[in-house]
Amino acid sequence: MKILGIETSCDETAAAVVEDGARILSNVVVSQIDIFAEYGGVIPEVAARSHLEVIMPVVKKALADAKCDWDDIDAIAVTHAPGLLGSLLIGTLTARTLAILHDKPLYAVHHLKSHVYANWLTGESPIFPLLALVVSGGHTQILYMRAHNQFEIVGTTHDDAVGECFDKVAKILGLPYPGGPAIARAALSGDANKYKLPHPKVEGLDFSFSGLKTAVLRAVQKELGLPISYPSHDLKNHLSRQQVADFAASFQKTAVGILCEKLALALEQYPDVQSVVIAGGVSANKALREALLEAYFPAPSLSGDNGAMVAVAAYYEIISGVKPTDPYSLNIYPRISIEK
Ligand code: KG4
Ligand code: ZN
Repeated sequence: MKILGIETSCDETAAAVVEDGARILSNVVVSQIDIFAEYGGVIPEVAARSHLEVIMPVVKKALADAKCDWDDIDAIAVTHAPGLLGSLLIGTLTARTLAILHDKPLYAVHHLKSHVYANWLTGESPIFPLLALVVSGGHTQILYMRAHNQFEIVGTTHDDAVGECFDKVAKILGLPYPGGPAIARAALSGDANKYKLPHPKVEGLDFSFSGLKTAVLRAVQKELGLPISYPSHDLKNHLSRQQVADFAASFQKTAVGILCEKLALALEQYPDVQSVVIAGGVSANKALREALLEAYFPAPSLSGDNGAMVAVAAYYEIISGVKPTDPYSLNIYPRISIEK
C-alpha cells in the first residue's frame, strides 16, 4: 500500500510516498527556515503564503521521486491538527482537492501521532506497550501506547514546550532561529557545568520549561552584572563567544536532564513498558540521544516535520480499522489533543 503523506502544520512544506508504512519511496521537505531566521521566529501569515507557493511542486516532486503516478497511490494522508491555522489550511485544502480529483481515500492525521510514528521508519518496530516522549516546538508530553493508534497522555507541560525553550534561550544568547540546532552547535565548545540551572519542581510526570528560560535570563544578567530591568534583547551584545557556549551547554545539559529524569520516573510508574520512543524536533538533539541510548530515535532527517511520518501514521490508522475522512468536510484543529 502506497500512501502520499502531506505535512504543512508549521514552517515546513513536505510530501512523501511511503510503502506499507515502512519503505520511504520519496521524502521532499521545503523548509522556510531561511525566511524566518531573518525575523527570529515564524510569522504565521508568511508561513501560509509560502506553503501555498510550493505545496503543488512539492507534491509533484514526491510523486516523481517515488516514480509513481496517481494510479499507484492508494491513499492520501494529511496533517489536520494541531499547528498554525493558515498552514494547516493550505495542506488540508490541497489534500482534500487531490483526494476528490483523483478519487483517493483521505486520512486526517494528528501531528504528534506522526512524530511518534517516525520511529517505525528505523527498520525495527518498537514493542508495545511503550512510552513515547514527544519533544517538539509546540509540545512536551509523555504518552503511553498500549497498541497501535492508542495514545494516553500521562505527562504534559504546564507552560512552554522544550523546543520552545531552546528557541527562547537561543534568542537571549543571540543565536539564530531555530534555536535548537544553534544551541546544540554552540554547546559543543562550552562547559556544561559552568552555570548551575535549576530543575523545576513539578509533580509527577508533568513538565514546566518557562522557569528554566527565566533562570537562564537571570544567570546571564548576573554574569554580566546587569540589573533584571536591563532589556533582555540587548544582553547578547555583552556576551563573549565563550560565555554563549557555556550558557548553551549548561542549558542543554539541564533541559536534557529534566527530560531524562521524567522519563525515568515514567518507566518506574509503567513497569510493563517494553520500549521507549522519542519523537519531535528536539529528538534530533545529540546530547539527548547520547543520554538515552536504549530508546528509539527517528533518523535525524526524520526528527523534524516531514511527510513520510504522516504517511506511516495513516498506515497504522488504516491497520487499526480507522475509516477515511470525508474530503468535502474535513476540518482543521489548531489546538486539539492527541487523545481526542
Ligand atoms: O517537531 P518540530 O520540527 O516542529 C513542531 O512540531 O513543533 O520541532 C521544532 C523544534 C524547534 O523548537 C527546534 O528548535 C527544535 O525542534 N530542534 C532542536 C534541535 N533541532 C530542532 N532542539 C534541540 N536540539 C536540536 N538539534
Ligand atoms: Zn512537528
